[in-house]
This record gives sequence, C-alpha cells and structure tokens, in this order.
Amino acid sequence: MSEELIPETPEQETEENEAAEPIKQRKNGLYPGVSDELAENMKSGWADTELHGLEPIAQAAHTAARRAALSARFPGERLVIPAGNLKTRSNDTEYAFRASTEYAYLTGDQTQDGVLVLEPAGDSGHRATIYLLPRSNRENGEFWLDGQGELWVGRRHSLAEAEQLLGIPAKDVREIAAALAGATGPVRNVRGHDAAIEAALTDKVTAERDEELRVYLSEARLVKDAFEIAELQKACDATARGFEDVVRSLDKAEATSERFIEGTFFLRARIEGNDIGYGSICAAGPHATTLHWVRNDGAVRAGELLLLDAGVETNDLYTADVTRTLPINGTFSPLQRTIYDAVYEAQEAGIAAVKPGASFRDFHDASQRVLAEKLVEWGLLGDLSVDKVLELGLQRRWTLHGTGHMLGMDVHDCAVARTEAYVDGVLEPGVCLTVEPGLYFQADDLTVPEEYRGIGVRIEDDILVTEDGNRNLSDKLPRRADEVEAWMARLKG
Ligand code: GLY
Ligand code: MN
Ligand code: MN
Repeated sequence: MSEELIPETPEQETEENEAAEPIKQRKNGLYPGVSDELAENMKSGWADTELHGLEPIAQAAHTAARRAALSARFPGERLVIPAGNLKTRSNDTEYAFRASTEYAYLTGDQTQDGVLVLEPAGDSGHRATIYLLPRSNRENGEFWLDGQGELWVGRRHSLAEAEQLLGIPAKDVREIAAALAGATGPVRNVRGHDAAIEAALTDKVTAERDEELRVYLSEARLVKDAFEIAELQKACDATARGFEDVVRSLDKAEATSERFIEGTFFLRARIEGNDIGYGSICAAGPHATTLHWVRNDGAVRAGELLLLDAGVETNDLYTADVTRTLPINGTFSPLQRTIYDAVYEAQEAGIAAVKPGASFRDFHDASQRVLAEKLVEWGLLGDLSVDKVLELGLQRRWTLHGTGHMLGMDVHDCAVARTEAYVDGVLEPGVCLTVEPGLYFQADDLTVPEEYRGIGVRIEDDILVTEDGNRNLSDKLPRRADEVEAWMARLKG
C-alpha cells in the first residue's frame, strides 16, 4: 500500500526522507525540484469534482448476497479479503493490475490495494467496510508529486462515491494497519494477495483457518448467480467475435506468424472486455499438439490446422474459455476431418452428459469412451477392447488432459474447492464448466502412421447446467466440420 505522503516542502527534505518517499518522477531525475512558489501555486485553483447521487453498480445486490452468505459461514470472526497490490515489472513500471478474484467477487470493486473487512457485529452478523485509497490530497502536493497521485494515474473515486457505487461503507486504506492491529477475536485472511496485510495479521491468524476461508470462497463460486451467468454469456459472445476476427485475418497471419492471431484476438478482448482471461493458445500445424502453446511465434501455413484456445474476460472479470480447430485454408483434408469428427463426436457425448444430478466425472468418462473407440477403430491400440483400453488408460497417450473444468472469474475456477464438492461432486443448475476433448498426435510419435503426426484437435465449449439439462454459452461459434467450413468461407469472403 502506498501510505507515505511527501513532505510539504520537498526541496528541504533530508536524504533520509528522500530514500523513503515514493516519488517516482524525482527518482528518475524527471523532476528536478519544487520551489515554495510552485508548491503553493499547485495547491489551489482546482474545481470540486465530487460526484453525487451515483447509482449502485449493476451487481451490488449480488455482491451483498455473497457477503451475507460468507457472514453466515463464519459467525463472530473478522474476515479480511484484500484486492492485492501492483507488481513491479522493472524499476518503476508495473504489470497491469488485476484484482484478486475473491475481493472482486465480494465487492464488485477492482481497485489495487483495496481491502474488504467483515467485522463481527453481534446478532446482525457482520459489518462490512471497504478500505480504499481516497482522492489525492492537493494541500500537501500528494496529487501531483506522489507516484500514485491522481495527476499521474487518473482520478479515483472519493470514499463517499465508492460507498454509493458499491453499497459498502468506505474508509481510508491508510488506516487499516492500525485497525487490524487493534482488532480482537478470531481473524481470517485470504492469503497470497497483500503482503502488508499478512504482516499486520501474523500473530492473529493461522494457515489452516485462512485456508478454510479460501476454500469456502472457491466453493461459493461453484454455482453462478444470474449476474455471473449473464457475464459468462457476454464473455462467450465477445469471444465468438474475436474468433471471427481471427478467421478474417488468417491471410495476414500466413504472411507473418501466429502472433498476428494472438494480437487480433487481444484487440477484441481489450475493446469488448478487460483482457484475455488467460494466455491465448494460437497453435498452428504441429504446435497444436503442445497443450499450452503460448509462445505463438510459429508459421501459419495453408493445408495445416489452427488450434485456437482463447477467451475474452469481461470488464467485471468473467472469462470465456473456447477452442476451435480450424483448417487454415478453409477446408479439412480427409484425415484432418476424420480426426476432427472423432473429437466432435466425443464432445457431443460429453455435452449430453452435463445435466443436473449427473456426477462431475460423467462428461469426462463419456468423451473418453468415444475417443477410445475411435483409437481402437483406427488400429492404434492393437487388438485391445475399448473396455480394456479405458481400464488401462491407454487412450491417454493421445487424449492427454481431463475433459473440462469449472469456469467463472478464473479460467480454472473454484480451483481450491474440496474434492467432494468439485471432482467428486454432483452437477446442479448454475454450474458452468468447459467440455473440451482433444486428440493430439505428437510430431515424433512413432506409434501412429506418419500422416497422423503433428495433428492436434481440440473443441471446447462453455456449458451452463440448467434445470432441465444444459445450455451451450459458446454456441455462436460453429462446431460441426461442415458448419465450420461454411462459416469460414463466409468470413474469408
Ligand atoms: N485454456 C486452458 C484450458 O482450456 O483449460
Ligand atoms: Mn481452453
Ligand atoms: Mn479449458
């Protein structure tokens, strides 16, 4: 957290002060000094821009319900959920900030250094406070001399504005260390986001109890509310438009590299959303067999396949996770199509197994069975039966990964949920997951015919469990081979 203010008369500061103060322009030699006259001049002549009568953010009622559920789970305990801090890229430049999932989920806010505290409040459960950096002080020069001053980083909301928007009482984050130091009673903190908060709480928390809080917040997100479902739909729709952009630009990618595909999709993500939800996998030709191919520096050649696995993250931080495997020249070769159709069939079987009351494992098992049948049919597993192949897991040489995962604010959402709540759990309406079978024949795999080598196919969609089955949120993109070809022909014009 940035809590030091610069002295009122910067030119008189001692060397000691200079070392402690966070004035980046001074450190860089860009700001040579401040005369008393300039310091005085900069204090005044600024309009009052305070905003009044702000409407609450769209998800305010939902974040309130999420906080109420959290409160009910941990009665009588102080709960501390930080947004996290900027991370240095080098010297005085930082990586783009993304608030912690737990903080954004509970507040709808995404401000760096923010902290949500739920303080026990007797019979009424908890009293929530959001700690934020207020607007910059102009009297002491903070707003133009501090690296986090609004003149450098842009206007922030005042605490009163934040309260109206978020529906949570707000306090100055520079008061939180003292507030936590004086706190009595049990405390839990979401670790891994804010080292200063952790330092302030070292003798009040235990790793085990903090982990219980983190696990709760992961499991709370297994079932999405109406706001979250709408966000996931928005993410999928923007992602579909990003895939269309890529198809339209394939000739430019052929003239350059996979980077053109990465950049094209990223443009759509930044125009329609906050970011990409994970590093885009833009894998042309044999790169499709590398599961996390994110170097994206290879050639894009007509006649080969492009495996594109990418997702737009919305401005409220919900991400899609979609894969299409496309013939770069617009038409599958007979062998590409055979392999593609097998994966498509496996995905159809997987999607059909997503419904309320089904086990989380069912869709994986359904997809794997289809893939094993195809591999046996193609003679790649000798004369073993499909059941024997599945019993021994031999299909996994080419299927490689699980068939899907929970999706939400994190691409691999709910990742610290307990096994019984997730992998061994039962699906219910509101769960959103990916179904993404694949077949991957490595370029150096001597156990398959030469023409298979270097072919990788994955098809991935984002599936919402509904009351009576499921809904494919990413169905604006075609999946069947002939529909993919027709769609590409239309876009390539
Ligand atoms: N894009 C990562 C995944 O599909 O899980
Ligand atoms: Mn994916
Ligand atoms: Mn996925």
